[in-house]
Amino acid sequence: MRYAADRPLGVAPATVLDYRELARRRLPRQLFDYVDGGAYEEATMRANVADLEAVLLRQVVMRDVSARDPSVEVLGQRLALPIVLGPVGLAGMLAPRAEVQVARAAEAAGVPFVESTVSICPVEEVAEATGAPPWFQLYVMRDRGYAEDLMARAAAAGSRVLVLTIDLAVVGARHRDTRNAVVGSPGRWARLRRGLDLVAHPRWIATVALGGRPLTFGNLEKAVPGARSPADFKDWVDAQFDPSVTWEDVAWIRDNWEGRLVVKGVLDPDDARRAADAGVDGVVVSNHGGRQLDAVPSTARALPEIADAVGDRVEVLADGGVRTGLDVVKMVALGARAVLIGRPWAWAVAARGEAGVRHVLAVMGADIDTALALTGQTSLAAVDRTALWR
Ligand SMILES: Cc1cc2nc3c(=O)[nH]c(=O)nc-3n(C[C@H](O)[C@H](O)[C@H](O)COP(=O)(O)O)c2cc1C
Repeated sequence: MRYAADRPLGVAPATVLDYRELARRRLPRQLFDYVDGGAYEEATMRANVADLEAVLLRQVVMRDVSARDPSVEVLGQRLALPIVLGPVGLAGMLAPRAEVQVARAAEAAGVPFVESTVSICPVEEVAEATGAPPWFQLYVMRDRGYAEDLMARAAAAGSRVLVLTIDLAVVGARHRDTRNAVVGSPGRWARLRRGLDLVAHPRWIATVALGGRPLTFGNLEKAVPGARSPADFKDWVDAQFDPSVTWEDVAWIRDNWEGRLVVKGVLDPDDARRAADAGVDGVVVSNHGGRQLDAVPSTARALPEIADAVGDRVEVLADGGVRTGLDVVKMVALGARAVLIGRPWAWAVAARGEAGVRHVLAVMGADIDTALALTGQTSLAAVDRTALWR
């Protein structure tokens, strides 16, 4: 996809990739790379986009498509568009109280926002700022007591959907973060370079770093009392990823969560069947946006087989590489009931705050509408593989 990299600063963004370019100009390099990058050689991250681009829609003309409905029912909720703003950790580093801004944009568009465990704004702040409580994303933590506490907080804040992320038994190596000295044990010069990168972005320092409340992990403050910056949480968070978790732990979560439960990070039909056996309501076909194991298939490739395996037992959602509303329709045609987006909203909030996210959702909504009309369809919920060119 082309974007406005060659244009002067004043470009009016028209696409998600225009927002990516604006975010690149606005953010410290270490933060832009944290959002933009993936694991290892980033092959899976690229494949998410490329494989979806290679999927073709079937143009069908001369049908009455004067009334078109892009809405869909997901986990007991009617979504105005088949889009969910997926969990993005540390989003509050990208713009002032960014999770609140994004949740407001999601509410205005009639779609859900998923609050990450490792958000800057706590779930209560996000819930209070909107009329639509966020869905809550949880990692399976070693400290089961803390996980229980987080579930109770999310439920009290009104969350009705828990998204349990299960593809983080260990963390994939993200080389951009190593180069930018935000992970590992950087030496003095590397740390100095990192500091200079921040200093070179005074607007970010004024509005985000020093613009309001301290940047802490709002959902984890009780776990790390006295922490004042994201770095203070690092050791605790790193120690919480638990490589010993199994489907039995999902059963434990199921017993402790009254609302709908979705597991995120399934890429294999057998795992999807096990998830359905464990009693979840939905699975998200996801490779974490190519940020975990590189060299695994793109989600566009993995999705159809998983939808065939469990689509009649649980709701199948998917994410990875969705950059346009046409991509959304393709994912739905491949078997997803709705899609999650990550980087698109992160770039938009970094570039233009709430207004940017609203615009991205409006553009995607318009794309979806056009795709419905020109594939000869009137209802997004009825889109299936017949909408694809064979
Ligand atoms: C910067 C960043 C942070 C993320 N943090 C989380 C997280 O805290 N929890 C989670 O389950 N997924 C996280 N993800 C993965 C996203 O929820 C989603 O699976 C992925 O971004 C989808 O791919 P896309 O960015 O191409 O849309 C993160 C992704 C990015 C880009």
